[in-house]
Amino acid sequence: MATKVAHPSPKTKIERTRLFIDNEWVSPIDGGSLETLNPATGETIATVAAAGPKDVDRAVKAARQALETGPWSTMDAADRGRLMFRLAELVEKKAGELAALESLNCGKTITDSKGDLEGVVNSLRYYAGWADKIEGRTVPVRGSFLSYTLRQPVGVVGQIIPWNFPLLMLAWKWGPALACGNTIVLKPAEQTPLTALAIAELAAEAGFPKGVVNVLNGLGETTGAAMVEHPDIDKIAFTGHVDTAKIIQRAAAATLKRTTFELGGKSPNVIFADSDMEAAVAGAFHAIYFHGGQCCTAGSRLFVESKIHDEFVERLAEKAKGRKVGDPLDQKTEQGPQVSQEQLDKILHYVKLGEKEGARLMTGGERIGDKGFFVAPTIFDNVTDSMTIARDEIFGPVVSVLPFKGLDEVVDRANRTQYGLAAAVWTRDIDKAHLFAKQVKAGTVWVNCYHVVDATTPFGGFKMSGQGRENGEAAIEHYTELKTVTVKLG
Ligand code: NAI
Ligand code: MG
Repeated sequence: MATKVAHPSPKTKIERTRLFIDNEWVSPIDGGSLETLNPATGETIATVAAAGPKDVDRAVKAARQALETGPWSTMDAADRGRLMFRLAELVEKKAGELAALESLNCGKTITDSKGDLEGVVNSLRYYAGWADKIEGRTVPVRGSFLSYTLRQPVGVVGQIIPWNFPLLMLAWKWGPALACGNTIVLKPAEQTPLTALAIAELAAEAGFPKGVVNVLNGLGETTGAAMVEHPDIDKIAFTGHVDTAKIIQRAAAATLKRTTFELGGKSPNVIFADSDMEAAVAGAFHAIYFHGGQCCTAGSRLFVESKIHDEFVERLAEKAKGRKVGDPLDQKTEQGPQVSQEQLDKILHYVKLGEKEGARLMTGGERIGDKGFFVAPTIFDNVTDSMTIARDEIFGPVVSVLPFKGLDEVVDRANRTQYGLAAAVWTRDIDKAHLFAKQVKAGTVWVNCYHVVDATTPFGGFKMSGQGRENGEAAIEHYTELKTVTVKLG
């Protein structure tokens, strides 16, 4: 087992690169390898193993055995919780190192990575507390019977996560799965495998029995698809693109797996003239540019009340021009690179489309430098609802400004999208705030704030933004099967 700590400097050799199965590092049987890049330079920083179908099978067998016959299957719920608390503690101790590795591999600023690590620890602790609080009910059934319900693990769960929040998405998926007693085969995104491998080793160190957590790198189309097709995986939890979710749902139908999806968005961020302008400008800025717009909840449709439109957009553009874009490992940097060449190309393609369709490019719209995948914070003004940039998820630092006149109009326009992940409203009028919150079709609504997400509150999408909820008590439902036991009395 590779135990040496990988120091996250671009020049240091990264040690943890194999598959993590049954608490051991193993080489693939029928897989291959993947190049992992530093998005700030475009250079390769590690070559990691990629799992083939036989490797997936091996991991599933390990997870199945841990579920059915290993110590995990008979462990007291409170002891499962203790292991999770221990993992949270180990992660907390190594948070600085993990954050730096996250920034190196994913390109997010070191400040954002540290924030993510706090979220990881909070999430693990929150669900550790749940482990011995997952209860059934007694049911007042007709006749001389005692009926009660039990919540039991779904089984072996396959978890497929994206590259934008590699460790946080892992924690959101591991927390409820472990609290409920499931075992896990997790596939990180091919762009960002390194921190998942680091945390897998910490799980073994925390004392999780072998087979409880397994981590397989690999491409979605091969490793991910083999997981979805595997007959002995009971559930797939996925975060990523809506089109990938459709492929997964179709493939999962063959074995009728349970599925939960957390997908994209085109979230409306609505600014009324009676809002605190300074707070709203800062909020709109954070809503779109946080992590370079690579955020499923990004406030990418910015509805600004016509009365304040000109001043608002001026102030936003001023801030955008001053944003420090650069090396994510530099404490002063506010925005790192996009994750990959593919994402860079996608964003620049949408910029061209925006110009072609007649939107006004206020600032940005171009790549910064010729090394790494940096994009300048971009604002399109005079966007109309039907333009492609107002409809498609761009997943980059590109905001579309859409002027509006009143509440009913903006609710109607905000809802005219296939997505429904998040929405926000900025106003001092509590009636308007609550009316908007009630009528907008979104899984999360923020009033006078943005991107506030916590382990305790349900998170997920209406419409094509997802199925099911992560975080909070809601996730417990998705990681348990409900059993009714009926006993004849007398
Ligand atoms: P993706 O949906 O292809 O990738 C997400 C995960 O799914 C990765 O682990 C990938 O390996 C896996 N995957 C891909 N194809 C699969 C398949 N056929 N079967 C099983 N697993 C599969 O997203 P991608 O290509 O990285 O990014 C494309 C776009 O998706 C982005 O530009 C963005 O619009 C959106 N996206 C949304 C995210 C969110 O948080 N909701 C996160 C990442 C991407
Ligand atoms: Mg893809």
